[in-house]
Amino acid sequence: MNTVDIITKKRDGISLTTEEIRFLVDGYTAGDIPDYQMAAFLMAVFFKGMDRGETVCLTECMRDSGDVVDLSGVKGIKVDKHSTGGVGDKTTLIVGPIASACGVPIAKMSGRGLGFTGGTVDKLESIPGFRTSMEESEFIDQVNTRGIAVIGQTGHIAPADKKIYALRDVTGTVENLSLITSSIMSKKLAAGSDAILLDVKCGRGAFMKTEEEAVQLAQLMVDIGNDSGKKTMAVISDMEQPLGRAVGNSLEVMEAIDVLKGQGPEDITQLSLELAGIMVYLSQVAGTEGLCMEDGIAKGREAAGQALADGRALQRFCSFVEGQGGDPKITEDPGLLPQATLSATVKAERDGFITSLDAMAIGIASQHTGAGRQRKEDAIDLSAGTVLNAKRGDKVCAGDVLCTLYGNDETKLKTASEEAAKAFAIDDNVPEERKLIKRIIG
Ligand code: URA
Repeated sequence: MNTVDIITKKRDGISLTTEEIRFLVDGYTAGDIPDYQMAAFLMAVFFKGMDRGETVCLTECMRDSGDVVDLSGVKGIKVDKHSTGGVGDKTTLIVGPIASACGVPIAKMSGRGLGFTGGTVDKLESIPGFRTSMEESEFIDQVNTRGIAVIGQTGHIAPADKKIYALRDVTGTVENLSLITSSIMSKKLAAGSDAILLDVKCGRGAFMKTEEEAVQLAQLMVDIGNDSGKKTMAVISDMEQPLGRAVGNSLEVMEAIDVLKGQGPEDITQLSLELAGIMVYLSQVAGTEGLCMEDGIAKGREAAGQALADGRALQRFCSFVEGQGGDPKITEDPGLLPQATLSATVKAERDGFITSLDAMAIGIASQHTGAGRQRKEDAIDLSAGTVLNAKRGDKVCAGDVLCTLYGNDETKLKTASEEAAKAFAIDDNVPEERKLIKRIIG
């Protein structure tokens, strides 16, 4: 087989065979195919697309490029949750403990963030003492004893995706349906859970800008998950403005704790309960056993709400943190989390209603504070980030604080404030409401 032939075939819009896709993936992972040929192939896929069969094949080849985790030592139906990414999305820190408190075994591997702020692993590492790496046996043991463990994804999970994703990132080939699907699903299928819930974001802060694009992506991922024997569902949720009010690692941990205490922002609380409810249904626990999807999700949502209201979810969070070496006292004293030494504010220049709050601009501003990485080897400032004092639809007066930026570098904060100011649009009329949860695909 010849790499050039495969590239030209795809360039001409012809479907590739299983053998050809495997040849490319295996060859690139092993270092036999150079970056420039893989980049040309990815660009051909970007323009010509892949059909469903090719996408399934690419997903399976990337899954098989590394370890497939064996979670059979964990009792019950394990449910994984994945978000396609957004600004201020700290739902794993909330949904995991809620679902776990309802009886869903959570054995999760999460990533670091290359985007505007850290990923779940970075956020967890802002908790003093928290360990995000564990031996497999300890990981499984913690899930069986405490109901939840979250660790960093190892390089042995879908190494082909790791290499290809890094190349896509620098060759303008990220935003393609088949490439995103195979990238996400190869890792999810390798992570060993029995069921998968995908939170597919749409809006200005997401890969998918429109609901239609998000539905297409979600449907393809759901189909591939189900075809591979994992019960898979997706929620389409809004990412036009940041989720919650905090963006940045320790700031997001603090907000997650507020939500678990029942004192968090309404949007993230609502989305977390919805996601946790679906996970309860997928895991067939808390009275959802044998119910149809609609009734099962309703029952799951109710169970999730109870676990939040009676404090079991917060207790579960403390137990989870303690199990991984972190200090559970952060729930009583957020001052134990990394704190920034400097802050700056952005103020409203006129009276009116916030008609739009651009998630992407807040993401970029937060990255400038030091909360995110520009390159994967960059260090993150765990204390830095943005807190939104006002959100879309809020009425403000000239001089009101719209957001507060935190960090440890005066120059960075100044740039961040200038970026954050671009995020807000203020006008005379109340903006039309945007639905947070747009659709469920099962
Ligand atoms: N997240 C991933 O893991 N892969 C993509 O391609 C896009 C988002």
